[in-house]
Amino acid sequence: MKKIVFATNNDHKLEEVRDKLSSQYEILSLKDINCHDDIPETANTFTGNAEQKAVWVLEKYGYDCFADDSGIEIEALDNRPGVFSARYAGENCSFDDNNNKVLQELEGVENRKATFSTTICLKLKGKTHFFVGDIVGDIISDYQGDKGFGYDPIFVPKGYDRSFAQMSLEEKNKISHRAIAVEKMWNFLNKM
Ligand code: IMP
Repeated sequence: MKKIVFATNNDHKLEEVRDKLSSQYEILSLKDINCHDDIPETANTFTGNAEQKAVWVLEKYGYDCFADDSGIEIEALDNRPGVFSARYAGENCSFDDNNNKVLQELEGVENRKATFSTTICLKLKGKTHFFVGDIVGDIISDYQGDKGFGYDPIFVPKGYDRSFAQMSLEEKNKISHRAIAVEKMWNFLNKM
């Protein structure tokens, strides 16, 4: 079985991707290759951060690998928080802190449009490939649901009447930004 590293320690993401790719690849996590580094993410785009992580693993550990970077872009906030989604309300903030900040900033604002976006950078056999997944929706005015993570409770995808946090993992994983990007990479790997 071919081996490839997914540059993440997020078990939720690992499970999702292993489920999809396990027939072709053994997906190794950072822990599996004994990488406990705090990999820098200092770029100002999802693409830049995803590539930074993938390059780190390839150069320091010598594995073909892929890495992802995601976030939410809110139109009325000039596409903030974007690459700063994890720490929008400050260093060491919680998901609730971030959601409260967004809800406060959007108080009385009519345009609620937001886009979740993921970019995957794949380093394979000396070449670099990118796969992007987006899902558009609206920021609602209050929390709905208690599943998922991050901005899930305040985001309702277009065409749905429930937030990501009201959907089962299986349902969310059929339509999410990450699922779309992973699907694109899966199709690419399948054609190789
Ligand atoms: P990461 O780059 O995938 O770790 O995502 C960075 C941040 O974006 C996370 O800490 C979350 O705040 C937010 N985010 C990314 N994907 C999702 C999602 O599927 N639901 C909710 N929030 C997300």
